[in-house]
Amino acid sequence: MGGVVCHNTYIYAQPMSMKEEDTVSNSRRDFLRVFGAGLAGITIVGFAAPMFEGCSSGTSADTTDSADAGKTITVDVSSLAADDMAIHAATPSKKEILVVRKSAGVFVSVLLVCKHMGCTYPSIDLSGQKIACSCHGSQYSIFGHVTQGPATTDLTTFTTTFDSASNKVTVKF
Ligand code: FES
Repeated sequence: MGGVVCHNTYIYAQPMSMKEEDTVSNSRRDFLRVFGAGLAGITIVGFAAPMFEGCSSGTSADTTDSADAGKTITVDVSSLAADDMAIHAATPSKKEILVVRKSAGVFVSVLLVCKHMGCTYPSIDLSGQKIACSCHGSQYSIFGHVTQGPATTDLTTFTTTFDSASNKVTVKF
């Protein structure tokens, strides 16, 4: 299947401090993707500047990179005012993830690495209520559930815990 047509528009990212910019790759800071009025798209509100918490003793069988295993990041989700809104962040080893608000206080963190042959963001397109891989056409729900092959398994997700006091989530890899 061919690539997915993306009816989205682009705006520049919100200004970030120099310290934050230092941690963000060129591709990540160039653009944000937001979707046009009237489209039922994923609203990406920006790139988070996650705080890396360093190693912990925890382990996760749901990681694709041993460099991230057991590590955590903290992401400010105060900008996710409604369900299905999402924000980009990155694992400690700089793999793109999407933190999606599922419901009030409930968030899902999805690794943007296709389970078919490993294409990564931005080849993975965020259009409509889905995540679509332009390499061979696999599609997933915004929460990472595979809905169309050739991929046969869901995207990797991570344990994501919300702290209402700080309005931040902790993502454990
Ligand atoms: S790598 Fe994503 S569909 Fe093949």
